[in-house]
Amino acid sequence: SVDAATAIDACVRPVEDWPVQGVTFRDVTPLLAAPDAFGAVTAALADAVRELRPDAVVGVEARGFIFGAPLALELGVGFVPVRKEGKLPADTHRATYALEYGEATVEIHTDALAPGARVVVVDDVLATGGTLRAAAELVQTCGAQVVGNAVVLEIGALAGRERLADVPLVSLRRY
Ligand code: PRP
Ligand code: MG
Repeated sequence: SVDAATAIDACVRPVEDWPVQGVTFRDVTPLLAAPDAFGAVTAALADAVRELRPDAVVGVEARGFIFGAPLALELGVGFVPVRKEGKLPADTHRATYALEYGEATVEIHTDALAPGARVVVVDDVLATGGTLRAAAELVQTCGAQVVGNAVVLEIGALAGRERLADVPLVSLRRY
């Protein structure tokens, strides 16, 4: 079997100055294309969050979907999408937040989570933490509770971890 941190080092590609000068983009597409690495990352996330006893996994569009869906299946719980605005068809709650570059509004279906549900929120990368904070706001507005956040990797210099300190953070690699 493959060690998740080793798989991330081997398969996440740094792209300098993208999408803007001075940003190093962490491209997970090579990892997705390598089933041993993708499987090791999914298994490591599942092993780390299982003790939080989640009732649901929330994934944030777009890249949080890719890691969140197999994680939910591995845990045997449902997957709930947080989507960029204008994509969800039924009644939604909305949250707007600042990104490392730009701004975004995300939404969740108002009936997506049972009241009191224990939720783990999943994304590929933690940078400033704005995305996961917005997702937490949506989960709480649904009457559910975030019991943990899980990411494949975090950008340490941006201190997103400090903005999420109210619940456990699972991060498989720090750059
Ligand atoms: C990226 C990344 C995380 C977020 C991290 O998503 O996938 O979701 O930024 O940044 P933060 O911690 O500063 O909020 P992005 O909004 O670029 O879109 P995508 O997932 O749809 O590619
Ligand atoms: Mg994203």
